[in-house]
Amino acid sequence: MEPVTGINVSRRRFLRSVGVSGGAGALFATMGALGLAPVAAAPAPPFRPPALSDFTLTGRAAKRVVVLGGGITGLACAYELGKAGYDCTILEARAAAGGRNLTVRNGTSETDLDGHTQRAGFAAGTYFNPGPARIAQWMVTLDYCRELGVPVEVFANQNADALVYNEAAGRTPIRYRTAKADVYGYIAELLAKATDQGALDARLTAVDKERILAFLEGFGQIGGRADGWAYRGGDHRGFASFPGAGNDAGTPLAEPSSLADVFASDVGRYVSFEFGYDQAMLMFQPVGGMDRIPAALSRAVGPGRIRLDAEVVSVTDQPGGVDVVYRQNGRTRSITGDFCVAALPPHLMARIPHNLGADVTAALNSFPVVAAGKIGLEYRSRWWEQDLRIYGGITETDLDIAHIWYPSHDFHARRGLIVGYYNVGDGARAYGEMTPPQRLERALEQGAKIHGDKYVAELAGSFSVAWERMRYLEGAWTAPPWGSAAYDLLLRPAGKVYFAGDWLSREVAWQHGAFLSARSVVSALHQRVVSR
Ligand code: FAD
Ligand code: ALA
Repeated sequence: MEPVTGINVSRRRFLRSVGVSGGAGALFATMGALGLAPVAAAPAPPFRPPALSDFTLTGRAAKRVVVLGGGITGLACAYELGKAGYDCTILEARAAAGGRNLTVRNGTSETDLDGHTQRAGFAAGTYFNPGPARIAQWMVTLDYCRELGVPVEVFANQNADALVYNEAAGRTPIRYRTAKADVYGYIAELLAKATDQGALDARLTAVDKERILAFLEGFGQIGGRADGWAYRGGDHRGFASFPGAGNDAGTPLAEPSSLADVFASDVGRYVSFEFGYDQAMLMFQPVGGMDRIPAALSRAVGPGRIRLDAEVVSVTDQPGGVDVVYRQNGRTRSITGDFCVAALPPHLMARIPHNLGADVTAALNSFPVVAAGKIGLEYRSRWWEQDLRIYGGITETDLDIAHIWYPSHDFHARRGLIVGYYNVGDGARAYGEMTPPQRLERALEQGAKIHGDKYVAELAGSFSVAWERMRYLEGAWTAPPWGSAAYDLLLRPAGKVYFAGDWLSREVAWQHGAFLSARSVVSALHQRVVSR
């Protein structure tokens, strides 16, 4: 019996024979079973939404559920429970549902914890996603877009024509494709030399070596054996002028810098981003703004079930139900549910008086909060498309702005909006401590190093968000203490109060995590109701 590791001759023969007798479908299925063909990776654990029929002939009925927080998690809980007739009420402290899923449009107004008020003065159609902006194909977020009828389009998360600018290594921006070609080229040269000189003989057979060398020649555009496997550049790097008609072979770029200079410039640090299972192209965005998702969820839940400007001020689990006190329009009100789902950020839930136990408060306080911020810069012209032929994607920098994002939609329109910084951690806190005009001034000064005068001259409007300074959010996301007793405690209900949010998932800082946490709590709560 041959070991089933890698393709060998008799396995290939076996697969061919299946193809002959069973057709291509049988061949593909057999390859899948052998681990050779792509099989659908499960995007999420199986989820069966609660259904009205679950109560048929049980003598039981759907219950009243008070949901604290109308972000993606709270909305998804009410949406899924509503399918089985649960009487859900969402209490949301902000003026609109959505939470961190926020889209800024003309007229959007926001006053932060420092009292800075901004009002967006964008053209009709311009929007800015200061929070979530991209969705991977495998995420359940896309399933909800499909189910709720939210159209999606491609979000360009990488672009060979975007730039890399490392101030520490000199001040010339280069195209991302050039940076990548040089990094791959020199890595290929080194590995080819080591392989060919026998440095890896203990690890590689003669056949492996020839295969790897053949791969490296193409991957890195390096010379062959006769050329010492040298990397001297090639058309992967792009051109100064692209090839044209007749005998115009184009003008190559200047020779690549030396290996030492390429690695000293640190451009390679951006290359691994595109391999991230959560960041790899193709990615998607809802057409018209990320808040199309909470808008669709809100419609499906029913606006009558969402109380806005309703700030929860206490939660008491009583024998007869969970009493929730909230303030709305200057008045104190209360509501009682058979159950409660707390879908608030953990550090904010920790501050709300409750009778769920000191261990719950301590657990909620064990999630360190991460800061992040973005600025949207609206421009009168799309100079990045016209002058630089950059259509979407991200320019990477070593400046405190970190990244510049170009829009992935409305190509060739008159106006457009660039994300002028997206920073996380200390860099975000530094911008967050500035006033909005100071943030704008700093972002323009930094971005103009790469894009020149137009970066300032063509500006039409701006809006910045420092998530740790946003009311009722006070953070971009958290760093969950996975594996701790505190984390596990919050995965279980405290009496009749359940906890949910992306912070109770392994996909924190993604709506996917928020949806999965919501599903998990919905399933547990429904199971409890139908089985007791
Ligand atoms: P939240 O959105 O925080 O909702 C909590 C709700 O509780 C809020 O509406 C809040 O107002 C409300 N609330 C707070 N206190 C009270 C109170 N006392 N009473 C009543 N209500 C209260 N996800 C992606 O899928 N793709 C991305 O590209 C992406 N990028 C991101 C980038 C940034 C900068 C940020 C900040 C987030 C990003 N995310 C992304 C993550 C995504 O935004 C979250 O995972 C998701 O929105 C979390 O939803 P939630 O309902 O769990 O929490
Ligand atoms: N998930 C967040 C993003 O992709 C952090 O920007």
